[in-house]
Amino acid sequence: MSSPEFTRPDTRPLRLRDVTIANRVWMSPMAQYAAAPDGKPTDWHLVHYGARAVGAVGLIMVEANAVGPLHRTTSADLGIWNEEQAAAHRRLTTFIRERGTVPGIQLQAAGRKGSHLLPWVGAGQNGSVSVADGGWQTFGPSAVAFGDLNQPREADHADLDEVVEAFARAARMAHLAGYQVVEIQASHGYLLHEFLSPLSNHRTDEYGGSLANRMRLALRVGRAVRDAFPAEKAVFVRITATDWLPGGITLDEAVGFAEELAAVGVDLLDVTSGLVVRDEAARPPARDGVHVDFAATLRNATALPVAVVGRIENLSRAGELTTNGPVDAVMIGRPLLRDPYFSLRGHSADKAAWPDQYQRAL
Ligand SMILES: Cc1cc2nc3c(=O)[nH]c(=O)nc-3n(C[C@H](O)[C@H](O)[C@H](O)COP(=O)(O)O)c2cc1C
Repeated sequence: MSSPEFTRPDTRPLRLRDVTIANRVWMSPMAQYAAAPDGKPTDWHLVHYGARAVGAVGLIMVEANAVGPLHRTTSADLGIWNEEQAAAHRRLTTFIRERGTVPGIQLQAAGRKGSHLLPWVGAGQNGSVSVADGGWQTFGPSAVAFGDLNQPREADHADLDEVVEAFARAARMAHLAGYQVVEIQASHGYLLHEFLSPLSNHRTDEYGGSLANRMRLALRVGRAVRDAFPAEKAVFVRITATDWLPGGITLDEAVGFAEELAAVGVDLLDVTSGLVVRDEAARPPARDGVHVDFAATLRNATALPVAVVGRIENLSRAGELTTNGPVDAVMIGRPLLRDPYFSLRGHSADKAAWPDQYQRAL
């Protein structure tokens, strides 16, 4: 039940390594498909993320950034694979930090969901861009397509070594760019999740079959990122709690993976689910706090802090979940697209949270 005390953001700070996050309402990574052709952020990103930082969220997880050009989902993805890109991100991280918000960045390899059209182009058709039209050959654990997207090739061991190196380089670039947190994307049907799930991974080598084999790539990435990112900064993993389908990842398997991530030195699990195959039944059910119970299980099993995402529609609910509930923070997605001041509005009694420039509005 909601109560008035929860209409304000939960302003207890959370400290992870040397990173102190001012409150428990955070922005979930949401791809904007607005990058320059060289993968650098544009004015759109500064305005978009800048507004949410003014909006007093504790942490902004900047959308999925490709760890290499062939790891992009679309040609308009942000990239974090070279120093020029890192330098261009600094304008963003500087502004976010000046507002007292922690800048984080999600690192991603798209796997078989790569070489895709922008989501608002060609809706309802095959979303892939062919190599002939400027796309690129994707790879995944197996040569099996996601729905009607282009068929990936099966990754060989050299590809997997490159993936691990690309994530490590991206973590170094993220540090140069001024990010205080990196998040490894191991969910939503992108490359690392594709390896984890038996629904997309049909390999017979040491990267397929048992859970130990299916999580081998993600754990190699986890270790490499943890080594490459400064010890005083935090590493998160976006983890899938279930694939929702028979034969897919179960909560028990997610717990096994999470325990290994804790051993690698990961600092927080960001809990989500689904989307590894194109099937309505693989989508997270559209209900309030759909991942909360999963997050509680993962926290109990690993003793790691957890953030939860999915259908948390207002500050009251967010406050219940973090103050008396089973999670350490909430990640807010679509509500923050609709309203950059989702969180700030809850600070109406706390003038200090509002920028000087806006004081006369109060
Ligand atoms: C426009 C849009 C882009 C998204 N891009 C990403 C992304 O880059 N990385 C990611 O992990 N999830 C992405 N997501 C999923 C969200 O982070 C979030 O998990 C999902 O929207 C559910 O949370 P919500 O109910 O608060 O919106 C995206 C969602 C939307 C609506």
